[in-house]
Amino acid sequence: MTILQTSGLKKYYGSGDTQVKALDGMNLNIEQGEFVAIVGTSGSGKSTLLHMLGGLDRPTAGTVTVDGKDIFTLKDEELTIFRRRKIGFVFQAYNLVPVLSVWENIVLPIQLDGNKVDTDFVEAVVSTLGLEKKLPSLPNQLSGGQQQRVAIARALATKPAILLADEPTGNLDSKTSQDVLSLMKVTGQKFGQTMVMITHNEEIAQLADRIIRIEDGRIVER
Ligand SMILES: Nc1ncnc2c1ncn2[C@@H]1O[C@H](COP(=O)(O)OP(=O)(O)O)[C@@H](O)[C@H]1O
Ligand SMILES: [Mg+2]
Repeated sequence: MTILQTSGLKKYYGSGDTQVKALDGMNLNIEQGEFVAIVGTSGSGKSTLLHMLGGLDRPTAGTVTVDGKDIFTLKDEELTIFRRRKIGFVFQAYNLVPVLSVWENIVLPIQLDGNKVDTDFVEAVVSTLGLEKKLPSLPNQLSGGQQQRVAIARALATKPAILLADEPTGNLDSKTSQDVLSLMKVTGQKFGQTMVMITHNEEIAQLADRIIRIEDGRIVER
């Protein structure tokens, strides 16, 4: 089943001579449960694509369909709610709340959405990510790799249908990156989540089911 689809997706910034075609007509189909790596040089449009897939920004033209829904037909408010319920984001910056414990950080988005925490499920995510012993700790008591795993746990805890990650291991050493990625892959499989991950790292891209290469806002290989 196709969970994520783009059709003729374009995002242009500016106009005239200085116009940048960050996305220049992208057609993409991603199946439920698939783990897709997006690679491409700096400025090729990777982050812009991820923002569009997650409904963080509206395209110049074209559509993004998530789970059968054309998301940009939604009003801003509806889009925000849709995003919160369907999409998990992992960015390079962990954005953990320093005064909250690891557990509190992980369940914060669920509580912000006014939902009850599914403790069994979140504990399963925590244990898959090897964070059981760190739950009472504050973020600054953790290593970079551990903080990264907390950010991943937080994204998975809301049970997003789709996990979007922009260079999630960009700040980690090669060994830790591989570990974190293996864990994300296992977690994704275990919970049937679809993952789209931007990476510069070819070794990490090789862990994906499929690699999509983009150049100048277009897919060059799939
Ligand atoms: N908000 C913006 N305003 C103007 N240009 C932008 C903006 N965001 C991205 N761009 C441009 O769009 C192109 C693609 O950017 P981006 O998607 O961030 O690339 P990548 O993530 O592959 O490095 C680049 O030329 C970048 O400068
Ligand atoms: Mg980028």
